[in-house]
Amino acid sequence: MFSFQDINEDNVSLRPEATAGIMRAIQENTLLRSNPILKVYTVGPMFRRERPSKARYRQFYQINAELVGDDSPYNDADVIVTAVSILKAIGIESTLEINSIGCLECRAAYRTALKDYLSMWLSSLCEDCQRRFVTNPMRTLDCKEDRCRAILGQAPLILDYLDESCRSQFEAVLGLLDLAGISYQVNPKIVRGLDYYSRTAFEFTTELLGQSKAIGGGGRYDGLLKSIGGPDVSGIGFAFGIERLIESMMRNISSDRSLVYIAALGEEARRVAFPLIQNLRKYGILTETRFSGSLKSQMKNADKLNAAFVVMIGDNELSSGEYTVRDMKGSEQIQIAADQVISFLSERCNFCLDKDAS
Ligand code: HAM
Repeated sequence: MFSFQDINEDNVSLRPEATAGIMRAIQENTLLRSNPILKVYTVGPMFRRERPSKARYRQFYQINAELVGDDSPYNDADVIVTAVSILKAIGIESTLEINSIGCLECRAAYRTALKDYLSMWLSSLCEDCQRRFVTNPMRTLDCKEDRCRAILGQAPLILDYLDESCRSQFEAVLGLLDLAGISYQVNPKIVRGLDYYSRTAFEFTTELLGQSKAIGGGGRYDGLLKSIGGPDVSGIGFAFGIERLIESMMRNISSDRSLVYIAALGEEARRVAFPLIQNLRKYGILTETRFSGSLKSQMKNADKLNAAFVVMIGDNELSSGEYTVRDMKGSEQIQIAADQVISFLSERCNFCLDKDAS
């Protein structure tokens, strides 16, 4: 928690995430009365007093979605499918890692078993995990230190401690994800960093950011609303870190050569290039240009941006009505009729974001 005293010596804490605040808003405004099953989303800045590192900031932005009021496993699956479709829409390949951390009773039994196991290795754990052993032993499971990972490799797993109701709920969620054609990996080590979770817990990781950094995560929370004086109803939701989404999208673009560059030479060429650029973008094709400079400097720029194709438009192209298209991977060059350029590019490339538009 990012907490401090302000200039008037008032104690201030900045919100670390949106879910708890959404529950307070639901409770204070009795929102469930008119919408017994409530679906809400938020976008905004969050603050965590963590050690800053790559893609870990003290101020960052989240998009967050919640479904409150119903504990059917259909909702777990529906919310997860929504999260997956957001990632798909912005072209991020990710792995959905899912677990059930059970209810309070399952966790109490598991915590005892885990503590028994960890107590045999306590002095070999890192300092943080020695502290977690006392405060929240389950958090040792997502420690990134090699020595702790080696010890935790043999630790008891929460999935072996689920009671009948939590187990069947988890199996139902997985079955529904199968039905929706969503692939996932069951990862019994996912515990999540926030205290309010119960049963379904999940994270999205992507190679683009390294396995240790999640781009998003979420899960079910059974007692959260009740704990702040609200009704005893469950909810499920997720959040994505916007900076991490953007970073992943940028890496996607640079690793995949997913851009078309238009090199127009001279005013007349720029006048035909300008609407072409707008049309390519309308079709979801990432398109860049510079409305000045020699062919050489534009090609250099295209290379720097990792363009997949460069469309060259100069005097020759204007008089023949055929544009020169260079495949930057194979370095081949072909002439394409001006009115065929968009369909050529959208067929040839894997970078058309909105395939349906073309
Ligand atoms: P969370 O896993 O703590 O979940 O955060 C969600 C996402 O926010 C992370 O996967 C990550 O992308 C991003 N994030 C977290 N901390 C940082 C940071 N220091 N710098 C940059 N990005 C960060 C939650 O916050 C839950 N409220 C999600 C949820 C909604 N669960 C149920 N409903």
